Amino acid sequence: MTTDTTTTGATPNTTGTTILDARGVTMRFGGLTAVNNVDLTVSSGEIVGLIGPNGAGKTTFFNCLTGLYIPTEGEVRYKNRVLPAKSFKVTAAGIARTFQNIRLFSNMTVLENVLVGRHTRTKEGFWSAVLRGPGFHKAEKASRERALELLEFVGLSAKADHLARNLPYGEQRKLEIARALASEPGLLLLDEPTAGMNPQETRATEELVFAIRDQGIAVLVIEHDMRFIFNLCDRVAVLVQGQKLVEGDSATVQGDERVIAAYLGEPLENDPGAAEAAEVEAAEAAADTTTDTAAGKENDR
Ligand SMILES: Nc1ncnc2c1ncn2[C@@H]1O[C@H](COP(=O)(O)OP(=O)(O)OP(=O)(O)O)[C@@H](O)[C@H]1O
Ligand SMILES: [Mg+2]
Repeated sequence: MTTDTTTTGATPNTTGTTILDARGVTMRFGGLTAVNNVDLTVSSGEIVGLIGPNGAGKTTFFNCLTGLYIPTEGEVRYKNRVLPAKSFKVTAAGIARTFQNIRLFSNMTVLENVLVGRHTRTKEGFWSAVLRGPGFHKAEKASRERALELLEFVGLSAKADHLARNLPYGEQRKLEIARALASEPGLLLLDEPTAGMNPQETRATEELVFAIRDQGIAVLVIEHDMRFIFNLCDRVAVLVQGQKLVEGDSATVQGDERVIAAYLGEPLENDPGAAEAAEVEAAEAAADTTTDTAAGKENDR
């Protein structure tokens, strides 16, 4: 498989300014290079997709963008400033995320989960909270109003007092989005937001992401549901074995034979493994014929 990186199709949204600028990001775990020299930008007003087979390094790349991992090499800038190396500082800087494996406070209510998401935006400090003075009560009221507004936005206001653990899976994902939005981000990273959703919930999530973008928040989204990605994204980057294979608009990426090969596992022309794969296939076909024949004889008896 060739791994040369090409940017094809429509040029990325040139109307917005670049807010996220990841350059040469590499993440190694011992001998394994999970992310290999990846460049990626996101501009304001853009929805960018990140796709790739299981284990391609997508979540690891997100972790490098959010201060969970410090990249082995490379640099990530958000609004022209190098990202701090702590995740809560990254959130405060304006990047929020959801997780592939939902991370909610399951024994807290839906509203409380969103309020937790607001803490990076609340200026009231420790003593203010302990003493519960007028400043604290005013800030608390404002936070509560904003949290309820966000629950309305994602369609969960009727369940504000429910425990998070009692929500169906699709609604837990929505709650994660509301909690991420509570930090008032400029860029939202979504890691498989429709995993486990039915088709209706997936369509609703698509609309939700458009609505988030319309509020001036750029979105970078990982997803395996290709229809969702290609409907939604202005630009799509494909990671394969840690490297960015292709980047372009939906139509271009969808038709790129290297992407099709990466997903379907079809050997490419001149692929060094193609001859071996063909031999294995031929051997398997021969074995099938033998078995069929034997079974046929068995049946004939
Ligand atoms: N903390 C870690 N320590 C060691 N290896 C890791 C760690 N995190 C991820 N990896 C490895 O890095 C590679 C990329 O994993 P990652 O989770 O980023 O893939 P992904 O593209 O998100 O896959 P999926 O679509 O299945 O979520 C995998 O081989 C994985 O086992
Ligand atoms: Mg992942």
